[in-house]
Amino acid sequence: MNDHAKTFTPSDATVSRAHVDHARYAEMYARSVEDPEGFWAEEAKRLDWRRAPTRIKDVDFTHGSVSIKWFEDGTLNVAENCVDRHLATRAEQTAILWEPDDPEEPAQAITYRELHENVCRMANVLKDHGVGRGDRVVLYLPMIPEAAYAMLACARIGAIHSVVFAGFSPDALGQRINGCGAKVVITADEAPRGGRKTALKSNTDKALIHCDDRVKCLVVKRTGGQTTWTGQDVDLTAAMRDAATDCPAEEMGAEDPLFILYTSGSTGQPKGVVHTSGGYLVYAAMTHEITFDVHDGDIYWCTADVGWVTGHSYIVYGPLANGSTTLMFEGGPTWPDASRFWQVCEKHAVTQFYTAPTAIRALMGQGDAYVTGSDLSSLRILGTVGEPINPEAWAWYNDVVGQNRCPIVDTYWQTETGGHLITPLPGAHATKPGAAMQPFFGVRPVVLEPESGKEIDDTEASGVLAFADSWPGQMRTVWGDHERFENTYFQQYKGYYFSGDGCRRDADGDYWITGRVDDVINVSGHRMGTAEVESALVAHEKVAEAAVVGYPHDVKGQGIYCYVTLMTGVEASDELKKELQTWVRQEIGPIAKPDLIQWAPGLPKTRSGKIMRRILRKIAENDYGSLGDTSTLADPAVVDDLIENRQNKG
Ligand code: WT7
Repeated sequence: MNDHAKTFTPSDATVSRAHVDHARYAEMYARSVEDPEGFWAEEAKRLDWRRAPTRIKDVDFTHGSVSIKWFEDGTLNVAENCVDRHLATRAEQTAILWEPDDPEEPAQAITYRELHENVCRMANVLKDHGVGRGDRVVLYLPMIPEAAYAMLACARIGAIHSVVFAGFSPDALGQRINGCGAKVVITADEAPRGGRKTALKSNTDKALIHCDDRVKCLVVKRTGGQTTWTGQDVDLTAAMRDAATDCPAEEMGAEDPLFILYTSGSTGQPKGVVHTSGGYLVYAAMTHEITFDVHDGDIYWCTADVGWVTGHSYIVYGPLANGSTTLMFEGGPTWPDASRFWQVCEKHAVTQFYTAPTAIRALMGQGDAYVTGSDLSSLRILGTVGEPINPEAWAWYNDVVGQNRCPIVDTYWQTETGGHLITPLPGAHATKPGAAMQPFFGVRPVVLEPESGKEIDDTEASGVLAFADSWPGQMRTVWGDHERFENTYFQQYKGYYFSGDGCRRDADGDYWITGRVDDVINVSGHRMGTAEVESALVAHEKVAEAAVVGYPHDVKGQGIYCYVTLMTGVEASDELKKELQTWVRQEIGPIAKPDLIQWAPGLPKTRSGKIMRRILRKIAENDYGSLGDTSTLADPAVVDDLIENRQNKG
């Protein structure tokens, strides 16, 4: 394939404005991998340290003794870096520009001075309720400024936050509260989104039934809607009003945990990804500034939710560490109609816009008129994240939204990586529709042969994606289970961090991410372990066994395809399919609702009883012509039945 045919080079205007042009990228990248200590010692100066670090990097990727430390002897406070240090020069500048779900409700501009005051107030309330250094606080909140206040309030007093996406079910919330041993949960009465309201407080009550009685619940009044209050509940809105507006910031070690974020893996229940303070913030700030080419006066908007890592690094920590104005949007792309994103861009004169391919595909399907009705001339940079973007969606984003003026940064990274790992930089790289292009500074991608684990040296390569060295934003451990951390990321390919993704490097040395090679699926940019959906299904009394795989879906990227074996004597019916869909939705949350369910009298298993998912994937993808070797199956006949009754007959 001739990759040059589809290369877009940045305009002169983009290049001359950019923090990093092509020559500077080459020079900086070389230094970052030849002398990581020197390079990162310099970059650490982006932050205000209480004690500047002298020990820069201490990393061991050897399975059995994995240890990752950056800036280890430095001390700082993350909230001080995101708020206080800007007061001298930007007190009256907007820090958070909040756009509510309902376009009729007024937007709010929260200045850095107000941000400081609110963070301090909330920190004081947390302290009043016994929260201190190292304690865990779970946040289960709508996309409201209080979510950012809460994250920064925790950081200010040295507590560790764990944000749980507001779309998760009470069960999922309860698991996470227990998983990290939280002392306090911060929630809101209700979360408005798309004109509807989710009863967060009542979900929290249901979750807390399964938690320690001492867990306190602090409630933000978002809608003022009816909620039941119990003895343990605190009206956080009122408590903040009464709290002092100043609160000293704790001096934290660079390697003290900043937050835990649960994410899905290929096996078992979600794991608590741990990010620490110094390295994470240096990396979030640097990638935010350079990837999005952010300058003073910009209005930067990332449409993610703070429940995901994208919201952590690129709505809250990166932008605020840089003293930027970050737009926070409570709603979704298609309410009241499919023009909402573009109306918000026009209303606030957004300069950088960062979203997920699934949203782009959904909006593309609604027609161009929704876009062209808004004035998008303020836009300079467009970004995508979360899954591979198909060339059609890329072209639409580029032509219709970006009017061929705005470079698209296709940012590849993960919850585990803290920030962008592979991405074009606006003024430094050409772009190719669907390619993540080039590594960020300090990042050393390698393509490995999947079986042997051998590094492929040729420029053109196809295999699995791993990383040969650490970068400051890398996760440090799995909360409470360092062994799981080592086994998940460092066992299969010795000496590397293994991403779980497949990848291709083209003749120009540019990287294309081809999707997960493990049992993780990516549904509308939301990451899900097929094992989680399976365990929800088998928890239903009528289900004997279940196997879940992804299949290509026009809008979601991947859909959830479930093969279900019922208990003997249970009759299969369409009603039962609906019942199971509702069940999984309740067990995990709306994002996990199965798209297709196929009744499977038997599942293809090896003689040792292992389900051969490769075969199930092929059938779900409608690609059963190439099933490969089925001779090791205990009962090859089950495959014919599954093909016969496949659900994805597109
Ligand atoms: C997985 C990580 C990082 C924030 C959002 C998702 C996929 C992510 C891209 C991209 C192709 C991508 C990978 C990765 N992914 N960005 N630009 N191109 N694939 O974070 O939930 O931790 O998911 O998302 O498969 O492993 P996450």
